[in-house]
Amino acid sequence: MSEARVRLRPDVESVVPYRQGRIAAADAFKLSSNENPFPPLPGVAEALREVQFNRYPEGSARAVRERLATIWQVTPEQIVVTPGSAALLTYLMQATCTAEDEVLYAWRSFEGYPQFVGALGVRSVQVPNRPDGGHDLPAMAAAVTDRTRLVLLCTPNNPTGPTITRDEFEAFMAAIPRTVLVGLDEAYAEFVTDPEAIRGDAALLERHPNLVVLRTFSKAYGLAGLRIGYGVGQEYVMDAIRAVAQPLAVTEPAQLAAIASLDHEPALLERVAVIVERRERIRAGLLEQGWAVPEAQGNFVWLPTGERTAEVAAHFEAAGLVVRSLGEGVRVSIGEADSVEKLLRSAREVVVPLS
Ligand SMILES: Cc1ncc(COP(=O)(O)O)c(C=O)c1O
Repeated sequence: MSEARVRLRPDVESVVPYRQGRIAAADAFKLSSNENPFPPLPGVAEALREVQFNRYPEGSARAVRERLATIWQVTPEQIVVTPGSAALLTYLMQATCTAEDEVLYAWRSFEGYPQFVGALGVRSVQVPNRPDGGHDLPAMAAAVTDRTRLVLLCTPNNPTGPTITRDEFEAFMAAIPRTVLVGLDEAYAEFVTDPEAIRGDAALLERHPNLVVLRTFSKAYGLAGLRIGYGVGQEYVMDAIRAVAQPLAVTEPAQLAAIASLDHEPALLERVAVIVERRERIRAGLLEQGWAVPEAQGNFVWLPTGERTAEVAAHFEAAGLVVRSLGEGVRVSIGEADSVEKLLRSAREVVVPLS
């Protein structure tokens, strides 16, 4: 008997579902999802004891927005809090694009971009990265058409690692129409040490009214499992995000944990410094071994392994290091102290040198 199949959107079949970093065995290091190896900051566990799980959360995350507004020197209405910055990316697309419109971004970049664009049924325009793994911003500016509604700039770029400099950013913004929304995805902002790197702040938002800055508590703040991120931009753009957003999606535990984390900035900075130190040690060690590792400004390094990607990932995995293979390279997150030497030892055995 032939079963009739329901009619799905034909283009959904070609959308690749989000692939999560592989789970690691108990005796392996999970270096596949750019997570934070540290437990949540002090105060988070205590804050969560107050949660009333039988109640819906305060839907606009008012307390978090007020706290962030003070830090950012903007109004609370200029901030939206979302279940991870992943949700905000989708909301930005929903708020700007109809079927014929285009979302422009560098490639390779965050894997969520093509999936979220595809899920909405709008068009992705991908501009290849420069050979050093950075965004090719002049080529991106040239790829803007009258159908472009949203440009995503990822700095530092996941998974390759380089940041966008202030000069590159300003030249890009000057070259594109002010009617195109630009999302500056700074998921890894706290790990950036390059003084030339662009950084979203109130002055930048003031100068560029078509800008939204995206941040997350998943990475430096170590709250990936609670799902909370935010965006800062013009109030009317944020109102559009609020209009398309899934209601009540940021849970009360996530809101309380974010506020407790913001109360512990010195502890955050200490942990970030430790991760940055490990990153620098790993990158220096890999360069010395002959790996062509691009500038690494997030909590991860990128190994351009080309055809040997699967082999290299399997080699690390056999050594108890679960990494992320992404097409033409392997991304390794900066993890626990003991993973550092293990990674360098294992990398030495399989080095794919500069071609
Ligand atoms: C560049 C970038 N943007 C956004 C996200 C989404 O993070 P989250 O939804 O946990 O805030 C990630 C996650 O890895 C990322 O790498």
